[in-house]
Amino acid sequence: MSEDKKEIDEVSGVDTTGHEWDGIKELNNPMPRWWVYTFIVCVIWGFAYQFYYPSWPLINDFYHGAGGETQREKVHAELAVIAQERNQYAQRMATMDIAAIRNDSSLSIYAREGGEAAFGDNCAPCHGTGAAGFVGYPNLNDDEWIWGGSLDEIQTTINYGIRGVHEDTRLNDMPAFLRDELLERQEIDDLTTYVEGLTDSSIRSTSATQELFIDNCSTCHGEDGKGIREFGAPDLTDAISLYVTDRDSIVDIISYSRGGVMPSWNGRLDEATIKSLAIYVHTLGGGE
Ligand code: HEC
Ligand code: HEC
Repeated sequence: MSEDKKEIDEVSGVDTTGHEWDGIKELNNPMPRWWVYTFIVCVIWGFAYQFYYPSWPLINDFYHGAGGETQREKVHAELAVIAQERNQYAQRMATMDIAAIRNDSSLSIYAREGGEAAFGDNCAPCHGTGAAGFVGYPNLNDDEWIWGGSLDEIQTTINYGIRGVHEDTRLNDMPAFLRDELLERQEIDDLTTYVEGLTDSSIRSTSATQELFIDNCSTCHGEDGKGIREFGAPDLTDAISLYVTDRDSIVDIISYSRGGVMPSWNGRLDEATIKSLAIYVHTLGGGE
């Protein structure tokens, strides 16, 4: 391929490179300049990228890059910031009085949201996701409280549980009047009518039955049947009830009693979480 073989191609008017194979000549049509420069820039950028960022696998490790920058480091850094913020909240909440937390605008928002999440994890299996409860598991949205609906009372209930194993657990058991042979079947039947009459004024009982109630039941449920909080004895005069669904269920609870159990959370959940839960439950609608 010597210089003298270069010529202008007759058909296209383009000069040839001088290469020729069996009479076929190569036209001299180089890549456009802009393309070549872009290509060179890309190659340089590619090398720089590999140099700056983590790239090549090594035998036991990988090349970490001159910039020391990885997505993983970024996530770790972000998580550390969040954890630090949380820690700050949790520490303040652990030492603060629950009422003070509720009155602190940023802490109370944090507590409610944390409480809602903790409720879903720990309490919803028994009380339902919306805390609406089931038979035997109280609805926490209404303003009827068995053990009390103030922030402190709710916190105590959550901390120590009800009929649980904690030494400070809330404790009181209704006697099983039939099984323990405290009352006759007929008396239980009369008392059932009396209990029904507490919510339905069209159902009337004799004064003898009223006396039976006062003698056997009023120590816990009160003479008027409105319940006594210190004993965890529910109000029998309102439409909200724990176990009562029909007449048979009333006969059943007087005969055999129930004694629902709620676990204690003290020691299982940290203090900030328990306070958050109490604040969350308190804001559900019935807080006192
Ligand atoms: C194993 C089931 C169970 C779990 C889990 C449970 N509870 Fe309860 N809870 C009960 C029962 C049963 C009662 C009613 C006990 C009674 O008969 O007095 C109750 C009662 C309560 C009360 C008292 C209501 C009142 O009217 O005074 C509060 C408050 C409460 N639970 C909050 C919680 C919170 C918050 C959690 C989660 C940390 C939780 N519970 C987890 C079973 C449970
Ligand atoms: C030693 C205290 C005590 C005495 C006495 C007692 N109760 Fe109760 N009663 C309770 C407690 C505590 C509960 C709640 C049980 C639970 O939470 O599991 C209850 C629940 C009930 C309920 C169900 C309420 C609901 O909301 O579902 C009825 C009905 C009832 N008692 C009727 C009676 C009658 C009638 C008598 C008298 C014959 C009586 N009780 C005597 C403590 C008592």
